[in-house]
Amino acid sequence: MFDKRLMQMCPESRRYIIGNIILQFLELCLNTVMIVTIAQAVQKLYEKAWGLEELTVPLLIIACTIMLRFFTTRGAARMSYLASRTVKQVMREKIYSKLLRLGPAYREHVATAELVQESVEGVDQLESYFGQYMPQFFYAFIAPIALFFLFGFGGSWRVATVLLICVPLIPGAIMMVQKIAKKLLSKYWGQYTKLGSTFLENLQGMTTLKTYQADGFKNEQMNEESEHFRKVTMAVLTMQLNSVTIMDFVAYGGAALGILLATKAFVSGQLGLANCIFMILLSADFFLPMRRLGSYFHVAMNGRAASDKIFHFLNEEEPAGRTEAVTGHDIALNGVRFGYDKEREILHAVSMTIPEGSFIGIVGESGSGKSTIASLIMGRHTVGNGKMTIGGKNVTDAAEESLMKTVTYIGFGSVFFKGSVRENLLLASPGASDERLWQVLDDCQLSSFLRKEQGLDTPLLENAGNLSGGQKQRLALARAILHDTPAYIFDEATSNIDIESEEAILAQIKRLAKTKTVIMISHRLANVVDASRIYCMEEGRVVESGAHAELLNQNGVYAKLWNTQKALESYGKEAV
Ligand SMILES: Nc1ncnc2c1ncn2[C@@H]1O[C@H](COP(=O)(O)OP(=O)(O)OP(=O)(O)O)[C@@H](O)[C@H]1O
Ligand SMILES: [Mg+2]
Repeated sequence: MFDKRLMQMCPESRRYIIGNIILQFLELCLNTVMIVTIAQAVQKLYEKAWGLEELTVPLLIIACTIMLRFFTTRGAARMSYLASRTVKQVMREKIYSKLLRLGPAYREHVATAELVQESVEGVDQLESYFGQYMPQFFYAFIAPIALFFLFGFGGSWRVATVLLICVPLIPGAIMMVQKIAKKLLSKYWGQYTKLGSTFLENLQGMTTLKTYQADGFKNEQMNEESEHFRKVTMAVLTMQLNSVTIMDFVAYGGAALGILLATKAFVSGQLGLANCIFMILLSADFFLPMRRLGSYFHVAMNGRAASDKIFHFLNEEEPAGRTEAVTGHDIALNGVRFGYDKEREILHAVSMTIPEGSFIGIVGESGSGKSTIASLIMGRHTVGNGKMTIGGKNVTDAAEESLMKTVTYIGFGSVFFKGSVRENLLLASPGASDERLWQVLDDCQLSSFLRKEQGLDTPLLENAGNLSGGQKQRLALARAILHDTPAYIFDEATSNIDIESEEAILAQIKRLAKTKTVIMISHRLANVVDASRIYCMEEGRVVESGAHAELLNQNGVYAKLWNTQKALESYGKEAV
């Protein structure tokens, strides 16, 4: 019923919770004063001891208590708001900074859609936990005990005891449903995030689905998932409704019992009229805080189920100790072994030497592990066995910022953000002047196109959807050049684009290779002919390495690949 983890996660909200409890207790005191005043006035009037003129003071007291209650109610609501605001802020900050610490590898731990749901809606669910449930949790215990003594001293210990004994029936009912609720809600959240993921995936893949006319199939799949979600939601609601009915029965039944006992005591003369009225009017207050706790309990359980997922994410293992600054720029792999999962090793003792300023090619058939090497150099995964260093320092120890200032990776699916061309370019070099931007765009043969548009202010749609594949890739190159790091990795950077764009990009890469370290990963061997050293890979191993001419002389895997590609190209030309 009480989650220590959540409380420890956000100790800042504690004072607001305590403030809320105090204000609610004050409200109870004011309510008591008002009821006692009413009860006494009724008795005096009944006994004809007071005339109407004596009612001025009690009426003034009642008016005062109503006014003060207005402030305590508002104050409690404000405390509730502050507690939930604080927790939402703290939790979202924690998720965000965790995300930053995990870096791009976060996808290994959680799907993007799920994370978005957890940090938006999941965190919202915690609002009720901290704002309502937590203060009510304590107040619901304090209020009946305070009332017990009040009833005992001010009226009848018998009635007080009977009521106090009935109160725990409500938390008893809560505890009974808690187990079922926990299971159901965890199922509910699982289904909810799953549906969210599917929805996002289908939305993003709409074009593909339409192309293959598979939208109908996906529609059915989503209908099925929605139906599961509907069922689990209905199960949750039924469970909540049933438990609310039980709690209502106990709460109102208990209050009725109190009223009955007080009336009986009055009739038998054991209790005065004022005391009887006072007990009748207040007996519901014995149960209402617990009853309210019961209502908040369901919302809080929902928050807790969401928080379980959030905690799971926050507890994910982080790449530790990445603090070293990269100073040198030589890259070396020494007997590197790596697998994305334990069962399957992808790289088997790969060794490579990439001296500063060199132009290195990595070739090999699809799936041989080329991009995996690039990912490792970028520090996206931890090397399992062997050593990989930049400037003599382990890449796994290198601080992310320092590593990103040393190497720039350009793949074939570069991401652009909605905004202007300028904004997207300045990501790589925030201080660059317009002149410098135009210079690079010119080098990447984009300037004439952009000048016809709106220049640097040309808007880009989400992921540069309004550019052609070739333009997009040239823009990615321009952005990378602006980043100005000592080393670059081009991973199939010229795949699937027009020949003009490819040539423009290759020319720039060759120019870059004169002053920077360039690692060129490519299917097309012609692209790496000029490399000082080419590593030829096969099934996660470096099978050959050397300059183009040396490798041809070896007449091995590289020579075979080269001859096949040559034959295909000349066949293509003959066919034309
Ligand atoms: N994120 C991943 N999780 C699990 N396995 C992966 C992952 N990425 C790649 N692999 C596996 O690792 C192997 C090497 O993949 P990699 O992407 O390095 O090949 P590649 O040489 O770059 O191929 P290509 O030329 O087609 O780009 C493949 O068998 C692939 O199935
Ligand atoms: Mg690849």
